[in-house]
Amino acid sequence: MRLSFYLHGKLKRTKKYILSTFRLFGYNIEKYDVRDSIQFMKNSNKKDLKIIEIGNFDGKNARTILEFLDVEKIYLIDPYYYEKSDNSTTQKEIETNGGDFYFEKARKILKKWENKITWINKNSDNAVSLFKDNYFDYIYIDGNHTYKQVLKDMENYYKKIKIGGVLAGHDICNGIHAQVDNWGVTEAFFKFVNKYNLKPRIHGQDWWIIKEK
Ligand SMILES: C[S@@+](CC[C@H](N)C(=O)[O-])C[C@H]1O[C@@H](n2cnc3c(N)ncnc32)[C@H](O)[C@@H]1O
Repeated sequence: MRLSFYLHGKLKRTKKYILSTFRLFGYNIEKYDVRDSIQFMKNSNKKDLKIIEIGNFDGKNARTILEFLDVEKIYLIDPYYYEKSDNSTTQKEIETNGGDFYFEKARKILKKWENKITWINKNSDNAVSLFKDNYFDYIYIDGNHTYKQVLKDMENYYKKIKIGGVLAGHDICNGIHAQVDNWGVTEAFFKFVNKYNLKPRIHGQDWWIIKEK
């Protein structure tokens, strides 16, 4: 027992050392960025989750969701066109390389889960009518980050969450992007929770709300 604890600790330290050495030279070889709302969902131990991600880009976050959660079905919404109101890096990458490049990338890294995925190449406003109300366990908003659109996504997609489900999103409190890239996630989040008197949860760069009634 003691030996296994010792070896476990040793392995953990070795892994940490290897990863930090790579990071020191500018390489990040960690495959998964398990964001806080994903970890929260994982801790809830729920099965057969019905999920939406708004803003899929190259599929990396969807890959983490599919790897770490028990997913029955995930709908990946992304129009893959350049939207100039949101001045972020990913939007510029889409402008430079074309949306198809990232769509193909996403399809490639998510191939293993093809049967669980429905691809929706529309923006979140045009996709919303496809979904039933009170149905989803987890919806992750990470599309257009402007105040107006994040608030609209919250209004439109909160209805789609079932009781006990979680509406979440990325890039809250991201000060520099708020200044430079016209992001309004933080303002939209507080506007929304105050309007409906909901309990705000923020960890890392994720925000989320549990639908209680
Ligand atoms: C920050 S990236 C998403 C990154 C991805 N969620 C991840 O963490 O790996 C933003 C994506 O949102 C998409 N997007 C922009 N406006 C959108 C909208 N109104 N509805 C859905 N997706 C949108 C962009 O095409 C882009 O691929």
